[in-house]
Amino acid sequence: MHKKPVPTIYILSAILIFVLGGFFAWQGGWTQQAKDWLHLLVRWAHVIYGIAWVGASFYFIFLENSLERKGVRDELAGNLWAIHGGGIYYLEKYKTAPKELPKTLHWFKWDAYLTWVTGFLLLVLVYYSNPQATLIDPSVRALSSAAAIAIAVGSLVTAWGVYVGLSRTRLLYHQGAFGLVGLVLVALAAYLLAHLFSGRGAFIHVGAMLGTIMAGNVLFVIIPSQRRLVAAAQKGAQLDPNQVKYTQLRSLHNNYLALPVVYTMVSNHFPMTYAPGLNWAILAGLFVASVAIRHFTNVRERGGDVSYLLPVAALIILVVAYVSVPPRKTASSAPVSFAEAESIIRQRCASCHSANPSDTTFVTAPAGAKLDSPQQMAALAPRILERAVLSRDMPLANKTGMTDEERDILRRWIQQGAKIN
Ligand code: HEC
Repeated sequence: MHKKPVPTIYILSAILIFVLGGFFAWQGGWTQQAKDWLHLLVRWAHVIYGIAWVGASFYFIFLENSLERKGVRDELAGNLWAIHGGGIYYLEKYKTAPKELPKTLHWFKWDAYLTWVTGFLLLVLVYYSNPQATLIDPSVRALSSAAAIAIAVGSLVTAWGVYVGLSRTRLLYHQGAFGLVGLVLVALAAYLLAHLFSGRGAFIHVGAMLGTIMAGNVLFVIIPSQRRLVAAAQKGAQLDPNQVKYTQLRSLHNNYLALPVVYTMVSNHFPMTYAPGLNWAILAGLFVASVAIRHFTNVRERGGDVSYLLPVAALIILVVAYVSVPPRKTASSAPVSFAEAESIIRQRCASCHSANPSDTTFVTAPAGAKLDSPQQMAALAPRILERAVLSRDMPLANKTGMTDEERDILRRWIQQGAKIN
């Protein structure tokens, strides 16, 4: 079995980007734009590796679930025919290993490792390099930057430690109970982090905790176990079936975690889920619903039927959506003029959200949202309501010192029709 070395040109290209990019950024001053470029490249890579990892993982679970197990040779667990990309494929799965190992055996691990590495780099770029703006919300808890970063990194280590501890108990073999304990722990982590960090910072860290568990399973359990399988096959020895079962269960955890992790990764776009209040319960609800959907697909692929889980998941999502709607306050509905709203937006938002921002960090309008003209303000009114009134995570880290009265004036202006004359 030969191993392909990593071609030098790969390493050279990566060095080129990071060293030259770093040099240019340093020459031009470490501008926000240089950082944004790095951010773009790392996020792009993160999404691609994540797709490849989860895609391969879903594909192999599908294979396992769909194998034709009857009428196959004795040494086989099953075989399968498939058609894709204009070709017909036939593959066979061995019960353990063939008598003679093939020259080339493909391993699947780099996508997992690189998803984690790029993900951690993203945490550094977006959160740890500017915790005051992204991770810390003084209205939740006025942490120092150092404390926030320590808690954030500590949460990843803790998640792995607790998970490994649990997996070494008998609980591992009671899948339902393991799932239940896992759910309680996820809800607890979401609750604790939501009371320490900004909503989005808390959510992305719950996602990173679960992602760390998944990548850890690949690095510390699945790949070592595969090495033992290959070594045993080379010696013609038998593998300990308990070991095999153990690895399969850890691998199954990854399969169930994929859906909730992807939700937490995109949760940043959905302030209604991470807005202060019951955000941790919303996360837990979406965790249960997505694990139920994953369970439904797994069982279906094996020819079973747990369709009742679909309406259950739908119901949970509806309840969660209902919970996310803020209580209709019997707050003042006294009329406000556009002039009042306009002056607040100019004062509190336009330093960043302008064609020419005066903010020192943002040199282009963040997310392309410009609030220079009355027309732009009216067009963005629903988003202003979402970000400045409901989820209250704009102005970013309340950098411009927006008051509650001002938020209420914006609410009334928008609810009275966001008129600009
Ligand atoms: C210190 C800079 C800063 C200030 C001040 C600021 N924002 Fe933002 N805003 C950002 C950044 C960064 C993003 C992009 C990341 C994100 O969406 O959270 C953004 C994104 C947005 C978006 C686009 C994304 C979406 O959810 O549709 C809207 C709308 C928005 N902000 C509204 C506001 C409003 C309203 C104010 C004033 C009450 C405000 N912002 C003040 C930095 C700022």
